[in-house]
Amino acid sequence: MARSVWIKWVMGLWAIALLFGFNTPIALAEATSGAATHPMTIYRSENCSCCGKWMEQVQAAGFEIDDHFVDDMDAKKEELGVPEAASSCHTAVVDGYLVEGHVPVADLQRLLAERPAVAGIAVPGMPMGSPGMESDDGEPSDPFSVVTFTKDGTVEVFQDYPEGV
Ligand code: CU
Ligand code: CU
Repeated sequence: MARSVWIKWVMGLWAIALLFGFNTPIALAEATSGAATHPMTIYRSENCSCCGKWMEQVQAAGFEIDDHFVDDMDAKKEELGVPEAASSCHTAVVDGYLVEGHVPVADLQRLLAERPAVAGIAVPGMPMGSPGMESDDGEPSDPFSVVTFTKDGTVEVFQDYPEGV
């Protein structure tokens, strides 16, 4: 097939794809990752390495990170309104939701798609094997739950990970 014919053929297919609502591969990728348009502010302690590891995973999933080191994370959590029952290491804010601790990317994406009437989402504590808390020496993952929380401290299970992740 001559090159120019081939190009016309490809352009034709492209036009048909556009007609049927497939935009560009980039738009498709954004639609499936669901994260490309979500800037996230992270507050974390400078000497907590698991926070950095979690941040890298979130960043790799397409969230745009605005990173802040904070000396007094307890004060920051109180200021932002993270209830004690949900408390972990780092605290992030995305689209008006608080994100506390080692929340898997899949749950972040589900939160932003479903938009429940809660203040935020959390993995309380720091369960071994949760994203950013992977063991280097083969320690088994802890079972853990992702919870939602409200401003008044009501905590509800959002997703169970009975086998860890
Ligand atoms: Cu941590
Ligand atoms: Cu952390």
